[in-house]
Amino acid sequence: MYFRSIVSRQVGTRPTGITGSDSLDRVSRFAHPAGDRHAEVLPEERPPHAPADLNTLDPTIWPRTSNRVGGSVTIGGADVRDLVREHGSPLYVVDEEDFRSRCRDYREAFADGEVHYAGKAFLCREVARWIMQEGLGLDVCSAGELAVALSVGFPPERITLHGNNKSLAELERAVETGVGHIVADSFEEIARLGFLADKHGRRPQVMIRVTVGVEAHTHEFIATAHDDQKFGFSLSSGAAAEAARRILALPQLELVGLHSHIGSQITDTAGFEVAARRLATLLVQIKEEHGVVLPELDLGGGYGIPYVEGDTALDVKEIADGLRGIVANVARSAGLPVPKLTVEPGRAIAGLAGVTLYEVGTIKDVEGLRTYVSIDGGMSDNIRTALYGAEYTARLASRESSSGPMLSRLVGKHCESGDMVVRDLWLPQDLATGDLIAVAGTGAYCRSLANNYNYLPKPAVVAVKDGVSRVIVRRETEDDLLRGQL
Ligand code: LLP
Repeated sequence: MYFRSIVSRQVGTRPTGITGSDSLDRVSRFAHPAGDRHAEVLPEERPPHAPADLNTLDPTIWPRTSNRVGGSVTIGGADVRDLVREHGSPLYVVDEEDFRSRCRDYREAFADGEVHYAGKAFLCREVARWIMQEGLGLDVCSAGELAVALSVGFPPERITLHGNNKSLAELERAVETGVGHIVADSFEEIARLGFLADKHGRRPQVMIRVTVGVEAHTHEFIATAHDDQKFGFSLSSGAAAEAARRILALPQLELVGLHSHIGSQITDTAGFEVAARRLATLLVQIKEEHGVVLPELDLGGGYGIPYVEGDTALDVKEIADGLRGIVANVARSAGLPVPKLTVEPGRAIAGLAGVTLYEVGTIKDVEGLRTYVSIDGGMSDNIRTALYGAEYTARLASRESSSGPMLSRLVGKHCESGDMVVRDLWLPQDLATGDLIAVAGTGAYCRSLANNYNYLPKPAVVAVKDGVSRVIVRRETEDDLLRGQL
């Protein structure tokens, strides 16, 4: 049939991030201020080449402990067939060693600063324990995320609270529990914090979320530092300087630094450089106006990960050296002491540790076009493809195949056409109902964005390590779906 004989074609290459020790100087030419073309860089047209071998697991994309043993994929020493037999399908699988080792990579690379894991990428009680044990701090952006962390005894002083519209109750919980930092995002919030600090006799450490006006090269929905969006205080309008004035006027609040997060899934570091430079101008302004030297600078998260072959894999040490250098230079040239640097990776820690397993259901050939392979989950367990046009790598995981490639679309079981997990991928022509498919790179923002569309229960999350699997979040049941209804 035609679709099985489509000649693979390469439709251009994606812009890759730039690595190398001189990368920051070189790439700075690419960064430019926010304008009306902000964040319009979307993935280019696919499909990609059919891989020469449909069985390979690219080590830059698959979890660090993944392998094929006797044809079947193993993660953390556990065979995917056993995992699904024991825990059902679909299934989120987290390679504990991969997750923890990335924590350590960041901690070592930023040894003289702070690394806060951004819990929104994927947080549950067990992950909070891993973060705590690996010595990282934790970013939360709601009372719910804070509750998860506190429930396992996460030290509050290592937690930062974010959010553009924190409720009074959320702020109060944070002040009461003594979280390490609260990132102020609005004038209303500064006033509320002043009131709550008085009420509880506490002096919270506060940072200012600054909108630095950087156009991050990522999807519009996840770019956060151009002026026309909801987060933070604009630098260019003077709002950020006014926020500093108001916080410094309240002695019950301790202003400790500035914060910037330019966006997510960013693969060139130029934007961070621009952000750091702009934050430094505000540090100088604050020193000149108030005689206050702020000791901390938080450059947020956003470090991109490779999802498909050819994507850039950022080197954490290079990022760390680059950012440290920038901050030191900027501070020195402004005549300021070098502030303590904090970073907040989420995806870069959780993303590649996670794989989703699905069972193949129906397989439909659309003559002359492609084959629709339906799996037992979809946009309820991974909405990123529908929401951002995200791309993923997927493989037949329960066995090896030497069949030729067929151009496929991996689709879910939900009632809409946009319900796809992988838009274009090559799967073996002998794919059959009951085979297991593994989708790589689903550790971040899949379970956390999961929903119950069409009343599908959310899959379980299992952690695998040394051949042992443990349920860390149990699968939802029909009772869970009905709970809370009249
Ligand atoms: N810090 C702050 C203040 C943030 O808002 C975020 C992400 C992070 C750190 C972590 O960013 P990361 O290192 O994970 O890129 N749902 C989207 C991503 C939204 C990111 C929101 N903020 C996605 O699935 O791509």
